[in-house]
Amino acid sequence: MKVLLTGSCGYIGSHTLVELLDRGYEVVGIDNFSNSKREVIDNIKKITGKDFVFYEGDVCDKTILEKIFNENKIDIVIHFAGYKAVGESTLKPLMYYRNNIDSTLSLLEVMDEYNCHNFIFSSSATVYGKPHTLPIKENFPLSTTNPYGTTKLTIEYILKDLYKSNNDWNIVILRYFNPVGAHESGLIGEEPQGIPNNLMPYIVRVASGELEQLSIFGNDYNTPDGTGVRDYIHVVDLAKGHIKALEKLEKENSGIYIYNLGTGVGYSVLDMVKAFEESTGKKVNYKIVERRAGDIATCYSDPQKAKNELHWEATKTLNDMCKDSW
Ligand code: NAD
Ligand code: UFG
Repeated sequence: MKVLLTGSCGYIGSHTLVELLDRGYEVVGIDNFSNSKREVIDNIKKITGKDFVFYEGDVCDKTILEKIFNENKIDIVIHFAGYKAVGESTLKPLMYYRNNIDSTLSLLEVMDEYNCHNFIFSSSATVYGKPHTLPIKENFPLSTTNPYGTTKLTIEYILKDLYKSNNDWNIVILRYFNPVGAHESGLIGEEPQGIPNNLMPYIVRVASGELEQLSIFGNDYNTPDGTGVRDYIHVVDLAKGHIKALEKLEKENSGIYIYNLGTGVGYSVLDMVKAFEESTGKKVNYKIVERRAGDIATCYSDPQKAKNELHWEATKTLNDMCKDSW
């Protein structure tokens, strides 16, 4: 079974690549290093002791995709490549629409040309907008509050239309909640360039002394301690969810399946600070500031559908998430 991973050197792609190699899958990766580093390739090989085929290039470019499909008999594609920063997407919407949608269209067209119809897509909890009730189930209404989220929701619609038009397609849409942590070797992980937007990488930089203090965006939300609540999931658990999705596609001949990948448990920003301090022994200085525009109070998944149908559930603890992030 040969699996093509787009965005294979990024945060979630690299951890999924490790899980695939560990299970004996043959892997082909493509990345343009717009948000990752070349050394990830060697580090994946170090962790697994295994090799994989890699192409440097842009997934929007059909020429390189055709080269990949000509040179390799690809059975399944997992599509991670894309831009993901919510704030940046509000400043540069065209860049986000161009990259996220164009890459997906090019990829789906070339897959169809080469008669490969097994596709796993990285979607996001952001497609639930402001949920009316909790925990969030897959059949909740969908909406978005920023261009990044709209690219994800648009791609979900494209995939639904594609399946309607041709039932040969066999598609899994995975809606991730908040991935944190890293491979326990410390050789791969999340390394945002510049000042991090997300909570966990920011906490890590404060604990290491690279940044002075964490700004907690509001303590007046309707949550137990007033700070925002999210469903943090260890990236290795998330990577394993992709293996289960892949096994699902191997079993099915056709269909479109949607799953939340989360733990089902919500932690507040203050819970995260405390857990990080306890599991690493490092101090995290913080101050409370204004709410961040666009944030919601609480977001956590109902992961039951993935448990029932994919036989997957997250097993790593909050302590693992903090220790491995550090
Ligand atoms: P990441 O930025 O670490 O990885 C994405 C990778 O894709 C990077 O290595 C980047 O260089 C590459 N890339 C981007 N555009 C490309 C293109 N046109 N051609 C080739 N390579 C390209 O992000 P991640 O956290 O690993 O996220 C992977 C996917 O999961 C993304 O689609 C993201 O939107 C989605 N997602 C992420 C989160 C999160 O919090 N990390 C949450 C929900 C969904
Ligand atoms: N937060 C702070 N200070 C910071 C950063 C974050 O207090 O410096 C708070 C936020 O207000 C929020 C929580 O920490 O309450 C988590 O914030 P993140 O930015 O880490 O994550 P979000 O839930 O806002 O969004 C993330 C990804 C999105 C994705 C979403 C759901 O950035 O792309 O999870 O998967 F869509």
